[in-house]
Amino acid sequence: MSMPIIAMNGISKTYGTGDSAVTAIKEATLKIYSGETVALLGPSGSGKTTLITMIGCITEPTSGKLFLNNELVYDEKWRVSDTRKIRRENIGFIFQAHNLIPFLNVRENVTLVPLMNGISDKEANARARELLEYLGVGEKENKMPSQLSGGQSQRVAIARSLANNPKIILADEPTAALDAQRALSVMQLLKKLSIEQNVAIVVVTHDERMLPLFDRILRVEDGYVREE
Ligand SMILES: Nc1ncnc2c1ncn2[C@@H]1O[C@H](COP(=O)(O)OP(=O)(O)OP(=O)(O)O)[C@@H](O)[C@H]1O
Ligand SMILES: [Mg+2]
Repeated sequence: MSMPIIAMNGISKTYGTGDSAVTAIKEATLKIYSGETVALLGPSGSGKTTLITMIGCITEPTSGKLFLNNELVYDEKWRVSDTRKIRRENIGFIFQAHNLIPFLNVRENVTLVPLMNGISDKEANARARELLEYLGVGEKENKMPSQLSGGQSQRVAIARSLANNPKIILADEPTAALDAQRALSVMQLLKKLSIEQNVAIVVVTHDERMLPLFDRILRVEDGYVREE
């Protein structure tokens, strides 16, 4: 039996304290394996973004245990000195608001994290070109983010999330800003990565048409996570 790349054990998250406290995730226990594609479904406010950002070590849980790539990263508190390093080395993020860095051009947005990880300029640029080409925005490599359409920005953001060869890709409604055809091709690309590169893919989606592309569906309702 292979080891899960993501393991959550009784993870909860409460925002705020006292009367204003909101428990967004309630004792979530789940495992996700390399090469799996997992959809997170659920109504607005049910806790999907909270769950995916805890997996990504962005949101600090309140209790429970979290293992990534077989390493204990949270156990009542962070157990790693630098959560950013864990993110840079293991995880690619794709968010609905694509968060490209406005003062870097397209290629520089994609090479930033690999360069921080110590990859050479030459290698980082070659990889960026290959990914941008693959995603159909190769001719935009020298443009600034403000010069791109919403769909082009999203494809650059996807290229960026893949640039550090992550073991886990986390995507929060990655196709919301895309037309149906582009949305489908983005999901097909993520599916292909999961198969060819054994990457675990977790996607928050509202789009029922995408569901056949996933191996598993987790439903989040009022903070409870259950397998469907
Ligand atoms: N930073 C925060 N501070 C306080 N409460 C928060 C915070 N972030 C989220 N919440 C609350 O936690 C609950 C879950 O929010 P979350 O963003 O995880 O839901 P979601 O399923 O991603 O919703 P949506 O589909 O609308 O994006 C909500 O009740 C929300 O108001
Ligand atoms: Mg959300």
